[in-house]
Amino acid sequence: AALVVGGLLAGAAVAFSRGVTSTAGEVEFTRPLAIPPLASSTVQDGVRVFTLDMQEGETDLGQGGLAPTLGVNGSFLGPTLRATRGEQVRIDVTNSMSETSTLHWHGMKLPAVMDGGPHQQVEPGRTWSPTWTVAQPAATLWYHPHLHGRTADHVYRGLAGLFVLDEPAGSPEAAVQDALPHEYGVDDVPLVVQDKKFHADGRLDDADPFLSSTGVRGSVVLVNGTADPYLDVTTERVRLRVLNGSNARIYSFGFDDGRDFQVVGSDGGLLEAPVTTDRLRLTPGDRAEVVVEVEPGERTVLRSFPQELGVNPFTARFSGGDDTLDVLELRAAPTLEPSAPVPTTLAGIPSADEGAATTTRRFELSGTSINGQDMDLRRIDEVVDAGATEVWEVTSLDDSPHNFHVHDAQFQVLDVAGEPPPLDLRGWQDTVYVRPGKVTRLLVTFGTTPDAEHPYMFHCHLLRHEDQGMMGQFVVVDPSAAPGTAGRPAPGD
Ligand code: C2O
Ligand code: CU
Repeated sequence: AALVVGGLLAGAAVAFSRGVTSTAGEVEFTRPLAIPPLASSTVQDGVRVFTLDMQEGETDLGQGGLAPTLGVNGSFLGPTLRATRGEQVRIDVTNSMSETSTLHWHGMKLPAVMDGGPHQQVEPGRTWSPTWTVAQPAATLWYHPHLHGRTADHVYRGLAGLFVLDEPAGSPEAAVQDALPHEYGVDDVPLVVQDKKFHADGRLDDADPFLSSTGVRGSVVLVNGTADPYLDVTTERVRLRVLNGSNARIYSFGFDDGRDFQVVGSDGGLLEAPVTTDRLRLTPGDRAEVVVEVEPGERTVLRSFPQELGVNPFTARFSGGDDTLDVLELRAAPTLEPSAPVPTTLAGIPSADEGAATTTRRFELSGTSINGQDMDLRRIDEVVDAGATEVWEVTSLDDSPHNFHVHDAQFQVLDVAGEPPPLDLRGWQDTVYVRPGKVTRLLVTFGTTPDAEHPYMFHCHLLRHEDQGMMGQFVVVDPSAAPGTAGRPAPGD
């Protein structure tokens, strides 16, 4: 009860003290959008090797001065990694910062010890070299730190980048990939979207004076670290790989002129077929791939619109979905290169077969905890059989927005409050919005590499919530191992 009352008070304080922000029509779009460089790699004995260096630096984020920031192979954000399904990769991650961190491969299926979660710490001066074989469809994944209690701070200051997976040349999937816009930085453009607050001297402001329940939300939206960005579009269609890399903000993307666009991909890869819409919700950690059509010479603004985030039946409606924020201006050239039409069939997605599930687990999000427990790095919360398919039912009991992310998995959304999921959520997801007071049911198939010693995480991806304890750990074990043995710990260990 104390938690519910606390949530109510926090909600009331937020609603009372922060107004609704709108930057619609006020952003002047004076800077060309920066495109994160593609990370270079070498192939050594058949392994594609990347070198990443986490560093401290200073960056002009366009707010009146230099901001102390963190970056990967640079002072803010990091390069885009790119690998092909079937390839073995190794990432040599060096920490040149003065504090410990980690680097987690969000959305990747990989052995737990390579995951870069809170247990795979990289101390200052050290190098950590995870390696795995890419075994999942082409997708827009990302990487970011995951040090428990410090994730929000490290991401906010700039540690994040994209990890794009491709299909091997010559495969049927590659034919679809080639039919979509695919020239990186030209008609296939990554957008790392992050809202920030700034001090008058240009430094990042991470203070949250109202102690809102979600963490910092700012009215300056950086895309790939660029403030007030525009993108010169030279083709009839442009594919945007959008990452919500924000700590707390939930966006509802659309265009200022109301145009439709096509959603072609979700967190874990291409959808079965394009979904035509004028709005797309992305919660922190989520990605989507969209294709936008432009006419020669026109301009259109990618904007986040106010949204109905859902009402908790037990409490007041929470705030946080009411802002309108201009994000990026697309400027079409006077003459445009032709683009192929978007294929009508994109990927084979199996229909979600609930009958395949062997177990149903429930997760109740409330305050800073899941099922009444705050994150404990020494406690295993769930023990899952390798290769098992399960139903995970996630419910939010309070009036703060939450989402839910599961490591090492791309899941399917079975239903939300008993209704089939919206069309853009019918592909592979690793992160999903959790409507307050309603049950969101996920069908999750777990990885096949048992490791009872190294857990994966599940958590809310609003980073303050995650840092405060809204996270749990699961291990994937050999189904034949006896409970209570090293091969199969009992939950709660
Ligand atoms: Cu994007 Cu557990 O993380
Ligand atoms: Cu949350």
